[in-house]
Amino acid sequence: MVRARKYVVIKHFEGVPHRDDFKIVEYELPSLEDGEILVKTEWVSVDPYLRIYNKMLPVPFDQFSPQIGLIEESKHSQYPVGTRLVTHKGWCDHSIIDMNAPATNHIEAIYKIPDMNGMSPSLGVGAMGYSGLSAYFGFLEICKPKAGETVVVTAAAGGVGSLVGQIGKIKGCRVIGFAGSDDKVNWLEKDLGFDKAFNYKTVDVKKVLKEAAPNGIDCYFDNVGGEMSSIIISQMNDFGRVSVCGSISVYNEDHVNLPKASVLQLDIVKKQLKIEGFLCNRWEKRYSEAFTDLGQWIKSGKLKYREHVTEGFDNIFDAFIELFHGQNIGKAVVKL
Ligand SMILES: NC(=O)c1ccc[n+]([C@@H]2O[C@H](COP(=O)([O-])OP(=O)(O)OC[C@H]3O[C@@H](n4cnc5c(N)ncnc54)[C@H](OP(=O)(O)O)[C@@H]3O)[C@@H](O)[C@H]2O)c1
Repeated sequence: MVRARKYVVIKHFEGVPHRDDFKIVEYELPSLEDGEILVKTEWVSVDPYLRIYNKMLPVPFDQFSPQIGLIEESKHSQYPVGTRLVTHKGWCDHSIIDMNAPATNHIEAIYKIPDMNGMSPSLGVGAMGYSGLSAYFGFLEICKPKAGETVVVTAAAGGVGSLVGQIGKIKGCRVIGFAGSDDKVNWLEKDLGFDKAFNYKTVDVKKVLKEAAPNGIDCYFDNVGGEMSSIIISQMNDFGRVSVCGSISVYNEDHVNLPKASVLQLDIVKKQLKIEGFLCNRWEKRYSEAFTDLGQWIKSGKLKYREHVTEGFDNIFDAFIELFHGQNIGKAVVKL
């Protein structure tokens, strides 16, 4: 018998999530039935989107999130012991999964981890996982960047943003990033090759953008929403493209009374802008394309990744909250 632990959400979040919105439940897992596998969690991904999905589900519910798990026992011939999977079983140390039950939505999606070419399996939820997939498809398919164009990315030192900026450089663009500390700005400019980066907490975003992008902006990868995004979008060129990946600046706000941001319709019409949101599972059938390119770019050193690693099951909640205080550089993961 395996004793398992999991985080159960028992209260809907109000503002910044609290530890007592969760309960840690310890329980005994039953023996496996035919078609089932026992998965031991190795890496848990903490993600801003968990904040958004919280209100959509009735409590109590098990806190899902992408994770990397190793099959410890198996009663399914296609999923032998020792196989590593990407699942959404989330904040738990063990889980039993019925591999014959079809996924009914994208947060039940499960796939075998791609070839990591000797790199840490943790990348399966980062640069070679949903962060990489969001950066790759969300940027390339929606912004369609061309060499010589100017790209702006926000939350630029995070899991997704740091990859978007580098993919922009690989495609021959001029890349400008906004992030929330001087350390992050240094990392973006000195290590990742961003042409310019700014600490949005200490600069006048409108002014520095006019100076850094005197010919305007062609592509904007929006991770944050709010007024900063309105300022950036208002400085776009004709036929500019905006890929809306997330809006973390308002995730902890009251969703029926969101902060106001400047009206953009005048610019959108006048400059004929395209603004499109996405969920990365839109490209589910094409993940292997992204893994091939991302893997090669990483191997050749063109694409650098950084992980913000927290250790231990008991610290998953803290790792999650750190995202909202900008304490992570690169992809936030928890090692179990
Ligand atoms: N659409 C999709 O399929 C998809 C998939 C993955 C992620 N996402 C979205 O992509 C965005 C980035 O996700 P990620 O996983 O890569 O997280 P991340 O960027 O690694 O971490 C979140 C970062 O957001 C920044 N932040 C926090 N509060 C902020 C605020 N009020 N204003 C501006 N920035 C703030 C912080 O950096 P600073 O220090 O720079 O403030 C923090 O480090 C999120 O909006 C997420 O929801 C969407």
